[in-house]
Amino acid sequence: MPQKSRINYNPSLSIHENAERCGVTDAAIRKYISEQGIDRRYDEQVKKYNAVRLYLQTHKEAKPSEVAKALGMSLNTAKKYMAMEAPPAKPTTDKISKVNLSKLSAPIKTVDKDQTAILSGILRLYCNNAPTFDCDLTTSEGVFYKYGIPRPTYCYDKYPVDETVRQLEDAELLPDNSFKSIVIDLPFIVDEYVDSKEVRSMMQKRFSHFSSNEELYRTNSAMLSLVYRLLTANGVLVMKTQDYWYKGKQEWVALYVIEEARKLGFELLDQFLLIAKTKLLKQSYRQRCARKMHSYFLVFRKP
Ligand SMILES: C[S@@+](CC[C@H](N)C(=O)[O-])C[C@H]1O[C@@H](n2cnc3c(N)ncnc32)[C@H](O)[C@@H]1O
Repeated sequence: MPQKSRINYNPSLSIHENAERCGVTDAAIRKYISEQGIDRRYDEQVKKYNAVRLYLQTHKEAKPSEVAKALGMSLNTAKKYMAMEAPPAKPTTDKISKVNLSKLSAPIKTVDKDQTAILSGILRLYCNNAPTFDCDLTTSEGVFYKYGIPRPTYCYDKYPVDETVRQLEDAELLPDNSFKSIVIDLPFIVDEYVDSKEVRSMMQKRFSHFSSNEELYRTNSAMLSLVYRLLTANGVLVMKTQDYWYKGKQEWVALYVIEEARKLGFELLDQFLLIAKTKLLKQSYRQRCARKMHSYFLVFRKP
């Protein structure tokens, strides 16, 4: 049987950081990058684009010299990325980008442990190979965009974590047919779980839960309607969601989302399963159903 590689390459880290994290030498990481045909240069561009964009959102008046100093890049590099209005275009070489799987010949799988791989696969399959999505309505800290996928131009949240993210109310005022692709990732737990120490430590972020099942379902429906209105014809919704166990009952949230979306007119294009690396939610003492070890990325199209 072929030996499993010890290398779990992360495109957002330096070669040395990758080496330290995987317990191998820098040379081993370089060999891995070369053997896998990874386009490190493109990934670096995406990283720089993201960094400059984030900085400018909180320092709107910053001059290139300030950006260069703050981000440790040359003046010319800062100028180049400040002038970019969209994420860098994907290269046309045979090399693959670890964060953008557009050149990967392997088929895109329905199941993965890496959400960046799932999101990249969705971009490739359903968003015309775009480098990123047009809009994220639940951006939070933007974990989706930490590993190379550029941040969407339009980032919103009901509780923005900083000035880089706009208020969700602003999105509600946008005209119909504003975006070709939208991402949503609503909280998937209700407050009872948050009271448990285990989940509190896992979900330390504010506003990451609903106060009741009703609120969870109501918000899912309201967000689906908003997205339907904001998407262009043929526009794509990517919705992360998860089922859970609450007060002795299984809550089939994904099924609910699919049914509600279909009622609005959405077509379900695909379903991806993100496999949890650790347990997702507290299980009741006596096990009554299979432990949830996955969440979903549902992909819908507005006809
Ligand atoms: C799981 S987080 C999203 C994480 C994000 N995808 C990321 O990559 O970092 C859920 C988000 O939903 C937002 N949210 C909470 N309650 C909401 C509501 N009632 N309506 C809309 N968004 C809500 C939260 O502010 C939070 O940012």
